Amino acid sequence: MFDLSHRTTLALRVQANEVVEIHSEAEASALCADRKRPWLVLSGGSNILLPAELTQPVLIPLIKGIVACEQNAESILIEVGAGESWNDLVWYCLEQGWYGLENLVEIPGWAGAAPIQNIGAYGVEVKDVLDSVRLVDLDNGTVMNRSAMDCQLAYRSSIFKHKEQDRWLISALRLRLWRQPHLNLSYAGIRAELEARGCRQPSPVDVAQAVRSMRQRKLVDPAVLPNAGSFFQNPVVSNEQLEEILRHEPDLMYFPDASGHAKLAAGWLIERCGLKGQSREGVGCSNQHALVVVNNRPGQNTLHEVLDWAGYVQSCVLDRFGVHLDIEPRIYH
Ligand code: EPU
Repeated sequence: MFDLSHRTTLALRVQANEVVEIHSEAEASALCADRKRPWLVLSGGSNILLPAELTQPVLIPLIKGIVACEQNAESILIEVGAGESWNDLVWYCLEQGWYGLENLVEIPGWAGAAPIQNIGAYGVEVKDVLDSVRLVDLDNGTVMNRSAMDCQLAYRSSIFKHKEQDRWLISALRLRLWRQPHLNLSYAGIRAELEARGCRQPSPVDVAQAVRSMRQRKLVDPAVLPNAGSFFQNPVVSNEQLEEILRHEPDLMYFPDASGHAKLAAGWLIERCGLKGQSREGVGCSNQHALVVVNNRPGQNTLHEVLDWAGYVQSCVLDRFGVHLDIEPRIYH
């Protein structure tokens, strides 16, 4: 048996029958060609919920490397191994003068998982820089490229989270980055943070530092208290539904969505239900940010206790606002 309890940032108790680490795309391809299994791919473990007993064999892609593929005066195309730390990648690119990732600093996890839920923060998503992914077919080891356009990337979603879930191992990403700063300061919080730091003409590094301090202030460090970041997605509602909720909750927090609908702040909804800082069996909503579910009993609590708490939060929010909250991390039962 393999103990994976501290392999995920929520630190749930997990025992696995089999764990295989691979170090290259070729190794992954050979393994999958040889052994047709329902592999479970485990990356950085920051957005996944595993059951206490895992019978499925686990495949961990420790594929490293950041390579420049081609460049012109404006942009550079880089290929990043799936097992690179996302945060280290962001800082490395900044050091090289490759820009576009600065708003995505401090996101836990590995590069290979980034397209699965189209990671995003502070006005930028991986969708904005992703050129293509390299895939290994988990059924037969075939290797292929897929363009970002064919990955159906959307808010916290992609084809890899839905229609083609568990079909592929993402072995590498190709990212198109800028060679000159192209700042995205659309998120009001960044502008306010830069102003507070007296930064009038920010560089990409200034933006990364501003985002890092906002994240450190708002979010919970899994090394201090295990968690999986935002536990629920921000729900998108129709304008009719928005008006209806506003009739009862005039100070509701919401933002216009790209599709013309309204995105509600799930953290606000949960806090308004009185659940911020509340817990049951050592699992609860952080007192720092209500959207973050924390595990106060690392290595002891299981998926069962977490789903129990999540169900309670979902029912409170549904009862009060008539809105369903979707769980953000990938759940394996
Ligand atoms: N809020 C509350 N109470 C809380 C928490 C938040 O009222 O306990 C309010 C805040 O005051 C704020 C609003 O909710 O006005 C939104 O909060 P925040 O700016 O922290 O962003 P979020 O919508 O909760 C999303 C992403 C984060 C990302 C931030 C910044 C989702 C599910 N989460 O959080 O992503 O870092 O925006 O862009 O979209 C993640 O996915 O794991 C993650 C951390």
